[in-house]
Amino acid sequence: MGGTGKMKLIVNGKRLDGRGLADLRPMTIKAGVLNKADGSAYIEWGNNKILAAVYGPKECIPRHDINPYKAVVRCRYSMSPFASFEEHGRTGPNRRSREISKVIQEVFENVVLAEHFPKTAIDIFIEVLQADGGTRVAGLTAAAVALADAGIPMKDVVAGIAAGKIDGQIALDFGKYEDNFGQSDMPFAVSLRTGEVLLFQMDGMLTKDEIAKAIDLAFEGAKTVSDLQVKALKARYTEKEEKGVAPAPEALPQEQPAGGQQGEQPY
Ligand code: CDP
Repeated sequence: MGGTGKMKLIVNGKRLDGRGLADLRPMTIKAGVLNKADGSAYIEWGNNKILAAVYGPKECIPRHDINPYKAVVRCRYSMSPFASFEEHGRTGPNRRSREISKVIQEVFENVVLAEHFPKTAIDIFIEVLQADGGTRVAGLTAAAVALADAGIPMKDVVAGIAAGKIDGQIALDFGKYEDNFGQSDMPFAVSLRTGEVLLFQMDGMLTKDEIAKAIDLAFEGAKTVSDLQVKALKARYTEKEEKGVAPAPEALPQEQPAGGQQGEQPY
């Protein structure tokens, strides 16, 4: 985040990629893309490409993390070393990825009905394969779908969306250049069902009125995000129904060879 505000980002009422102020970048979401995860989703949002995987509710390890009253919800956001042209330095967790993991974790701690699963853990992994501005909101949008795909009860499938200010105007969903050269960027996570804001970060300077306008625009844009989340989940359920809800192959009982002999173990 953070911009100089010096680059011209709106020309004749259009942004550099031809979008209007309230337009989102093209987005597709697919639920259930990973076989081993309990729930998963893949999102392409503009040039962002992000995978989210959910494991749990499962045994909570390390045991000192256990909460006897509810599931602990954990999140790890990470950006692959090939996600952008920018210098990443060493791979692995860094200050930025820790911050993003923390704020996304807090979003889901507030929507997952964790008290249904005491003493367990729910792990959310977000892997950014390609980055182009707004990866935290895109990642959490995918993670919400992955949680729903895992069948984890939540107050709502929250939607991520960013609003901000470019060339003196409030607009939605910044690509990397708008993020870098705009005047302000505000990532949100919202629940359309409850009208709550679950994530609200901001850089740059805005007036009170501009913030109010950005919030209104964010809720408007979140409708598109939410529609695509629901569409992805419906497609997933239709697919499951068509296939029949088959257990994973490794969960099926192994066929015993005739004569009660133990055959060769698969592992
Ligand atoms: O991705 P998001 O907007 O949530 O977070 P940011 O810290 O504001 O980063 C803005 C953009 O800068 C990212 O989406 C990436 O495109 C880029 N970036 C990068 O390529 N490599 C980094 N280590 C950090 C940011």
